[in-house]
Amino acid sequence: MAIRRILHEGDSTLRKTSRPVDVIDKRLKQLLDDMADTMYAAEGAGLAAPQVGVLRRAVVIDVGDGLLELINPVIVHTEGSMVNPEGCLSIPGRRCTVERPEKVIVHALNRKGQTIEVEGTEFLAMALCHEIDHLDGILYVDKMIEDVTNKEGA
Ligand code: CO
Repeated sequence: MAIRRILHEGDSTLRKTSRPVDVIDKRLKQLLDDMADTMYAAEGAGLAAPQVGVLRRAVVIDVGDGLLELINPVIVHTEGSMVNPEGCLSIPGRRCTVERPEKVIVHALNRKGQTIEVEGTEFLAMALCHEIDHLDGILYVDKMIEDVTNKEGA
């Protein structure tokens, strides 16, 4: 277990497309462990592998209901839409609103290599979309509707 350095906006790695995970080995499990440690230490709700410099399709999410580890996640269904403020550990100090589906269904592998289905609404739907975007080099600010950095919590 270790905390890894989180890359910040401007690092070209964040703009690259990640490759699918082909083997779930010790090294990948270590990566998932470290990503969870790093996410919790930074008090984030999600982290994608490219944010720690690894261009592989793996994300961790915890919106308060426990840790989700998703390998090669794919959004297979979306429903509705909502606009909410988001933040990102790679863009500290900033909050912007983004339009996302209200509900998503994601297929992925867990660390045992089993196919899992995750259904997310509201904050979890947002987190799933946000983290999966990272795997394609997309940052939430690319989809920004409004910068609300100084408009919240006043
Ligand atoms: Co992010």
